[in-house]
Amino acid sequence: MWEHHGSAGLERVVDAVVGAAAPVDGKAVVDLGCGNGQLSLPLARRGAQVLAVDISERMIETVAHKAAGEGLRIETAVRPAQELVVDAGSIDLVVSNYAMHHLYDDEKRAVLAAAVTWLRPGGRVVFGDMMFGRGATKQDREIIGSKVRVMLRRGPAGWWRISKNAARFMFRVRERPLPMGTWVKMFQEAGLADVQGARVVAEAAVVSGTKPAA
Ligand SMILES: C[S@@+](CC[C@H](N)C(=O)[O-])C[C@H]1O[C@@H](n2cnc3c(N)ncnc32)[C@H](O)[C@@H]1O
Repeated sequence: MWEHHGSAGLERVVDAVVGAAAPVDGKAVVDLGCGNGQLSLPLARRGAQVLAVDISERMIETVAHKAAGEGLRIETAVRPAQELVVDAGSIDLVVSNYAMHHLYDDEKRAVLAAAVTWLRPGGRVVFGDMMFGRGATKQDREIIGSKVRVMLRRGPAGWWRISKNAARFMFRVRERPLPMGTWVKMFQEAGLADVQGARVVAEAAVVSGTKPAA
């Protein structure tokens, strides 16, 4: 996996997603690719009823354990986001952070289309993720260059990581980020309104949109 922007950077993206999603008190929320609960936990602390979804059983166990430790009620599902079934019109907010880049582009589109059906009119989708392309723009090249420099500073272990990551990225084996503009277009094509994209740190952005009233 590419090195993330650093924990301070990741925290800023989490904060940006939580901020863009506010207010969440009393809202029904689905967190796709919840990991160890970076989004699910703060949203539940703010009064959201969260369904935390992850493909990894270990991650879901961690979220459930942390939630129990804080006396929070978080529902969980071990499932690929692509296979999640949720009642139509039952959700206020669908969030995700640093997970959608694992999906193929067709899967991203399908998950977004499904998320729109889960939402009530006026409900929102807020996705934070690494968002850049494969070097077509100056910004892409700067982001990729900064990641390579971080790994180079780590010596031989970092050099090995660069070659592994370069292959993964070029062949899109595990990391399939898209530029923010492509995400904005995908949100619009999924029928979301008031679509906004905001870059948070060099490699990452948050895109949000609202399901229009029927
Ligand atoms: C980099 S972590 C991010 C976790 C968390 N959202 C955060 O902000 O820290 C990516 C997570 O996505 C999960 N994941 C990867 N592919 C997935 C899929 N197809 N469906 C659901 N979760 C997936 C991984 O298991 C992992 O927990």
